[in-house]
Order: sequence, then structure tokens, then C-alpha cells
Amino acid sequence: MLNRRQALLCGASFGAVAALPVQLAAQTREHLTYPPLLDATRSQRFRLRAQAGKTRFNGGATTDTLGYNQDYLGPTLRLMTGADTQAEVENQLRAPVSAHWHGLLVPGDVDGGPHQAIAPGQSWRPVLSLDQPPATAWYHSHVHGTTAEQVMFGLAGVLHVTDGQDDRRGLPSAYGIDDLTLVLQDRQFNRRGRMTYNSGMHDAMNGFLGDTMLVNGQVGATAVVPKGIVRCRLVNGSNARIYRLSLSDNRPMHLIATDGGYLDRPVALNAFVLAPGERAEVLVDFTSGTNCSLVSENIANSAMGGMMGGRSGGQFVVLPFAIDTTLPTRIDGLPDSLDGALPNLDITGASVRGFSLDMSMGMGMMMTRSNEQFSINNAAFDESALNFAVAHNSLERWIVQGDLMMHPFHIHGVRFQVLSENGQRPRPENRGWKDTVLVNGQVELAVRFEKLASRSAPYMYHCHILEHEDGGMMGQFSVS
Ligand code: C2O
Ligand code: CU
Ligand code: CU
Repeated sequence: MLNRRQALLCGASFGAVAALPVQLAAQTREHLTYPPLLDATRSQRFRLRAQAGKTRFNGGATTDTLGYNQDYLGPTLRLMTGADTQAEVENQLRAPVSAHWHGLLVPGDVDGGPHQAIAPGQSWRPVLSLDQPPATAWYHSHVHGTTAEQVMFGLAGVLHVTDGQDDRRGLPSAYGIDDLTLVLQDRQFNRRGRMTYNSGMHDAMNGFLGDTMLVNGQVGATAVVPKGIVRCRLVNGSNARIYRLSLSDNRPMHLIATDGGYLDRPVALNAFVLAPGERAEVLVDFTSGTNCSLVSENIANSAMGGMMGGRSGGQFVVLPFAIDTTLPTRIDGLPDSLDGALPNLDITGASVRGFSLDMSMGMGMMMTRSNEQFSINNAAFDESALNFAVAHNSLERWIVQGDLMMHPFHIHGVRFQVLSENGQRPRPENRGWKDTVLVNGQVELAVRFEKLASRSAPYMYHCHILEHEDGGMMGQFSVS
């Protein structure tokens, strides 16, 4: 394990990174831990309990937090594709919560969105029948109007969909050793070390940005890794922060999976963007024995441009890695190919639907402090109104454009292909199967509707800046 001298050396490499707009509030160099693994591949059942907790994040005062089965965040659920898993979600809180399976292709009535809110004291028992390729997905509460706050204080966790074939693929698969689940979140703490979130006007407009980086709910921790190939399953669980990730010594990351699962081969990237709600799996090569850190560019994303949005530019450390040669090296080379087929959808004749993510209402109504500030196609979310219906197994071309700032657009119950971004070929990280895509101007999507959602249990589509979603930048559709 890491000794103190190594820990200091590892810390010293931070000096090379430019100004830290997001600071690591503490210089403690604890080892990163991973959420407990709740492996339901054999039992085909699992239980989540939404509960109140207390968490001390940074050696400071304790903060009242929320979690599934624990004080903050939830366990990593591992589910077998091709199987039916009996889930149970119990709500021990005094407010309604839900558990939305973001990235699972399941019917609308078990999707866990706003229509499946669980009342205090109640339980919800959906059966999750999976027939999708392996992927990193996640789950979080999704009650309209309180999603941002509940996720902020901890109601989120990671899901691994597996087919049990990763060893055959030559991919790292030892949980917490060479297969790392990493939830990226930015948070804010007051002077006493309590997590704060008051969602004032600025946060409501632009989405919350914190000044402290958390990975798996920990501040300033270092991931201890073997001297080999390490798989990072990155989940952007932040309310609004967009990361542009790279490694501090510029070594490549090998992208193997996007939201919906594997690519057909690893793609070497020096940097890529991960917006709220998105996931990416990358392989990092530590066979040389040299440490590095995962870093991010500081990206400003504000409706008021430079006025209120803060400075863009500069880098901050997301997660330092420290090699421990006593850990077993299970994988020491990259796979040449993976069995994820790249999407290639024939969109000739597909019907076209346009979406405009609007903030203008919010701008005008800033002074009125209305909760419904945002809209899509001029309609703020209305839980009782279906926005449209699509035909089961159809393919549609969705053209989505965003207003004033960048918006991560997410669709429930489907996977899609990004056909273009502002008329150009999509960025490499947007060329696999997706369920969330950052709209910076205009994107064109080919969306396939493989699962059913009735009028009373429709699917959501929304901006994944959670303050925008809660503010009305969401709609719903049925598939029948
Ligand atoms: Cu990750 Cu509708 O949400
Ligand atoms: Cu979702
Ligand atoms: Cu938005």
C-alpha cells in the first residue's frame, strides 16, 4: 500500500497543474474507496432503501445527507442482462423519492421517473427485464421539482449491466482493483465543512457549480491502482458541471464504452467531454509504472456569458492515481477489438421531430421567482400532459437545439446515435450508443424506440442540468 513518502510524491505532482478554480479543499491523501458492490447477477433480486444519513466530508462538521442503503450515494448494482431482476425500493424518508434507472432499457412503468414516485413509508417493486448490451448506467431520484436537491444530497448510485463475458474480452473486471467505478460530483462546503446547497437565482438559472471535487463522495482521495491496465467507469453525477477530462501527463485514455455500451474497438483520446448524466469507460495504461492524475478543464456554462458565469479555463485535479506494485496485474495489454457494434441506423424516411430547449422564459421571469422558468418547445413540464406519442420499434430523427448555454439532453427508455453536432461529424466520445448528449448549438439524433411506455407511465426527455429539469425543461412521451 501507499506509504507516506509515496503519498507526498504523488501529491507533489499536482504542482504542475495550473490554477485550481475548483480546489481540493483538503490535502488529505486518503485512499479512494468504492461504493459497496451489490451483485444481483445470481440472486436476481436486490433491495434499495432511501434513507437519511450523516456524512463528514472533509474532516469538517457532519452534514445531513441522503443515500440508498447508506449515508451518502448508494451501492453499485450489478445486473445480468438477459435476466429478470426483482427490485425493491423502500422509501424511509419523509418526502417522496424515486429510483430512475438511467440507461436501462426498460418499459415506462418500471423506469422510476416522476410517475413512479414512492410515497414516504412505501415500497416499489419493479421487475427489471434486461436485454441490452453490457453498459455502465446509474440510478437516481427523479421526483419533479426535488430531483436536483435529492441528488445533490446523495440519492444516486451506479449500475453495471453485465453479460459475464468481460474476462473473455480481455477487460479489467475486478471491482475496485482494476475495474474502478468513479462518480464525479462537484459540491460546496461552508467554513465549518457542511455541504451547502441553497439554489439561489444564479444556480437556478445556470445550474449549480461547486468548488470542491468529490469522487465517490470523497474529497481529496487517491485511487490506488495495479501496475497494469485499469478500467475507469466514469459517471458524471454532478448537477450541472461539464468536465473535459484528460490525464496530467497527457497519456491517452482508451475509450471502450459510451452510455449505451461498448464500442467496436478502443479509441485513444487525449481528452473528452463528460456532461451531467453521461458515462464513459476508459482504459488507462499504468504498465510503465508512472503515476498520473485525472484532471479536468474548468468549463464555464452560463446563460449570462462572462457576467455571472465565472471564469473558464484552467485545470483542476479530479483524481490522482498511485500505483501499488503489490496489487495483482490482471491485464497488461489493450484489447484489439470489442464486440460492441457501432450504431449504423438507416434514417431515410424516418420522421423528424424538433426540440428547442428554452431559457428565455426564465430570463424574463427571473424577478417573479417562478418555479417553472424553463421549457422545451415553449412548454414547461406538465406531469399531466403527454407531449407526443411515438410508434413502438420506430426510428425517428430528433433535431435538438439549445438556447443560451450548453444543455445535456437525455431521453429515457431508448438509445440513440448522434448523427451530427452543428452539422459536423460528432466528437469521438459521441460516436457510440448514447442516452444523453451535450447540446452546444444543435445536434441531430437517430432514436430507436425499443420499449413500451403507456400514456400513464410515459418516458421523460429533459435537460440533465438538474436545476433546469426541475425548472421545467422536460417533456414526456409514450411508446405504443
Ligand atoms: Cu438521469 Cu431523467 O434522468
Ligand atoms: Cu434517464
Ligand atoms: Cu439545460
